[in-house]
Amino acid sequence: MKECVIVDGVRSPNFRAHAEKGWARNLRIDEILTQVYDGLFARHTKFKPEDVDAVFCGSANQSGPQADIARLGWLAGGYPESVATCSLGQQCPSAMAAVEFGARTIINGEADIIIASGAEDMLIGRRGGGGGMDMAPRLAQRYNVADFPMGMTAEKVGTMWNVNKTDAHKMAYYSNKAAAAAQAAGKFKDEIIPIKGCVKDDGTPFVCDQDQWVRPDVSMEKMEAMQPAFKPGGLVTAAGSSPLTSGACAALLMSRDKADELGYDYHLKYVFGAMAGCDPTVMGIGPLYAAQKLLKRTGKTIKDIDVWELNEAFGTQAVAVCRELGLGKEPPFENVNLWGGALALGHPLGESGGRIIITLNNIMKKDRPDAKYGVCFLCGGFGNANASLWQNVNKS
Ligand SMILES: CC(C)(COP(=O)(O)OP(=O)(O)OC[C@H]1O[C@@H](n2cnc3c(N)ncnc32)[C@H](O)[C@@H]1OP(=O)(O)O)[C@@H](O)C(=O)NCCC(=O)NCCS
Repeated sequence: MKECVIVDGVRSPNFRAHAEKGWARNLRIDEILTQVYDGLFARHTKFKPEDVDAVFCGSANQSGPQADIARLGWLAGGYPESVATCSLGQQCPSAMAAVEFGARTIINGEADIIIASGAEDMLIGRRGGGGGMDMAPRLAQRYNVADFPMGMTAEKVGTMWNVNKTDAHKMAYYSNKAAAAAQAAGKFKDEIIPIKGCVKDDGTPFVCDQDQWVRPDVSMEKMEAMQPAFKPGGLVTAAGSSPLTSGACAALLMSRDKADELGYDYHLKYVFGAMAGCDPTVMGIGPLYAAQKLLKRTGKTIKDIDVWELNEAFGTQAVAVCRELGLGKEPPFENVNLWGGALALGHPLGESGGRIIITLNNIMKKDRPDAKYGVCFLCGGFGNANASLWQNVNKS
């Protein structure tokens, strides 16, 4: 068995997916993905694109411009036809599945260099370019499908796990504060590829190098005054939800042998991935089960994990997961989302599982070089969840 290390990871800024206010509103998602690949290859001259064994790309919505985006996005970017590609869909954990699939391929000795990417534009459906979903009518015999929309699942998780609106807003508050501090300190600089072709709200063109949604001036008072977004009298507001977002990311994975041969300095290796399923009407609690499975199968406890990156789909689910896992009673949860989470940074669905791995790598390299283990975990629509364990290669 080989070892798989993450040599590098890059991403676009996360853009608001809004037809008038989104800074990337004039760009197709495949164009953003190409700019991310171009940025990655510009940093790496020790090998060529044709040396890549395979490119995996995850998206939640596998239609419109995201239909087989691994292949079509790669070819549209002018990259070599000889490189194999594979599109993956696991709802929000899609890009995490791409990284895990890539890491396992390397560990199995089937590849030495893999690009594991993710891309999602939540404007697609609204632009009219995405296909609709045709859900099996029989699901209605098994579930109350009115509970399937993501916002409704966040309401139900809040009610079932006793998370109130204020708890959810505290999660959003600390997320924005941490993200704003990280942004101001330039901590995302190494992972963000500046994207050309962006436009400001007023149409002024610019090259964008920072996440659009982060609110340094976030206020508990303002958030508490907001109306529920999904159901009358509900717990979940726009502030307690990750926003509609678009973005792309790419992680460069290598066998440790190959990385050593090429003279790379790397920090994390992939240890283990655990997928878990749960009731789709409370999909947001899924990361709890994925993390518990990961800990059990690797013989670790929460005390062994130094840094956690939890995708904050909604404030209610993020608080419920952290509490039930034993990471604390209320936000801010210790060692969780040190540079902020999706409530502030945004959540381009199937891209986020890759984004949090790339950010974890940078957090552990720059801010927590003594940390041994980090876990990334997230929920996914219809009850899929995924968690992955990473280890500092300098700590045995
Ligand atoms: C909640 C939701 C419906 C709101 O969508 P929307 O009505 O288009 O609203 P926006 O997100 O644009 O926010 C509405 C307003 O509230 C404001 N707002 C949002 N968060 C805020 C905060 N923390 N503080 C102050 N204002 C805030 C926004 O700025 C916006 O006003 P603006 O347009 O003047 O800037 C949408 O964000 C959503 O569906 N989120 C969940 C996405 C999802 O399901 N993801 C999958 C998870 S598994």
